[in-house]
Amino acid sequence: MNESGRTASRTAVLVCQGRAAADGRAVPGRFADPMAVRLLRAPERVPVDEVRASTPPDGMRARTAYESVRACAEVVVPRTVAIDEALRARVTGQLVILGAGLDTRAWRLPELAGTDVWEVDHPASQEDKRARLAAAAPADRTVDEDGPGPAGPPVTARFVRFTPVDFAVDDLGAALDAAGHDPARPTTWLWEGVVPYLTRDEVRATVAALAARTAPGSALVVNYQTPSVKAAAGRLLARVLGSSVTSGEPWRSLWRPEQLAALLAEYGLRVVSDDTLLALAHSLGSPTRVRASLRSGRVAVAEGH
Ligand SMILES: C[S@@+](CC[C@H](N)C(=O)[O-])C[C@H]1O[C@@H](n2cnc3c(N)ncnc32)[C@H](O)[C@@H]1O
Repeated sequence: MNESGRTASRTAVLVCQGRAAADGRAVPGRFADPMAVRLLRAPERVPVDEVRASTPPDGMRARTAYESVRACAEVVVPRTVAIDEALRARVTGQLVILGAGLDTRAWRLPELAGTDVWEVDHPASQEDKRARLAAAAPADRTVDEDGPGPAGPPVTARFVRFTPVDFAVDDLGAALDAAGHDPARPTTWLWEGVVPYLTRDEVRATVAALAARTAPGSALVVNYQTPSVKAAAGRLLARVLGSSVTSGEPWRSLWRPEQLAALLAEYGLRVVSDDTLLALAHSLGSPTRVRASLRSGRVAVAEGH
C-alpha cells in the first residue's frame, strides 16, 4: 500500500500472468512475452506453470486462480498482438503508456529502439512494478536517463520514464510536462485494460488531456470493454468462487463503439479501426472458449488530425 492508501493493481498482475502463461504456446511468431514471467513473484508463477502444463490443481481457491489465468491468457493474446502490431505501424518517437501496469513493451519491442517511453500509472502500481523490475535482474542499462532508476532488465526503448499519475485526481498534462514529454512532437498513446476501471468523467478528462498534447501524426491505441451481461456475470462468478482479484477494482465504465468514437471525435481523434478481440482471435486461430469476454473487449485505433 502506498501513501494514497491504495494498493498496487491486482488486475495488472493477472494480465501479466495471462501473458506469461501464453508465452511460447499461443500463436508463435505473432505473440510473445518472455519478460512477463520475470515480473511475477513465486506464488504468482504457480498458476502460470499449472496452465502451461495443463494440470489444473485440486481445491476451489487454487482451481479458481488457475481458471482465471487460463481465461485471461485467451483474452490477452489477441489484445497483445493487435496492440503490438498497431504500435509497430505507428512508431512516432514518443510512446505514452497510460495505466501501464506490468506492460513489457519497452523491454521487448526492438521497434522502440528510437522511442522515448513514458509509463504512466497509479503511484501504488508503479511502485510495485519498479520493485518487481529491481528483483528481475541487475541493471545493465538504466531505465530512466535522468537518474539511476531501479535495477532491472535492459530496455529496448530509447528510455523509459516512470510517471506516477492517478487519473482520478492528478493532472496528466502537468505530469507529462514535468516528465519531459513534448506535446509539439507526434505521440503514440496506448491505453490498454484501463478504461473500464475509470468513471465516464475520468475517461473524458483523460481523453481531453491527451488530445491537448496530440500533435499531427499522433495516434491513440485503446482497449476498452463494451456492455455485456455475460462478461459481467463471469466476473461475478469468479468472485463468488473465491477470486479476490477483481473485487477491489470494479468496472466503472463500459462503452459502445459509437459512444467512444463520438467522445474521441469531440477531441479531434478519428477512429480508423475498431475490432472485437473475438474477431482478432479468429484471425489468429487462437482459442475462443471465453467468447463473452472476447466479444466485449475491443481494440480501437484513432488518429489525431
Ligand atoms: C488491468 S491493469 C492493465 C495494465 C496494463 N495496461 C496491461 O494491459 O497489462 C489496469 C491498470 O490501470 C491502472 N489504473 C486503474 N485506475 C487508475 C487510476 N485512477 N489512475 C492511474 N492508473 C489507474 C492500474 O494501476 C493498472 O496498472
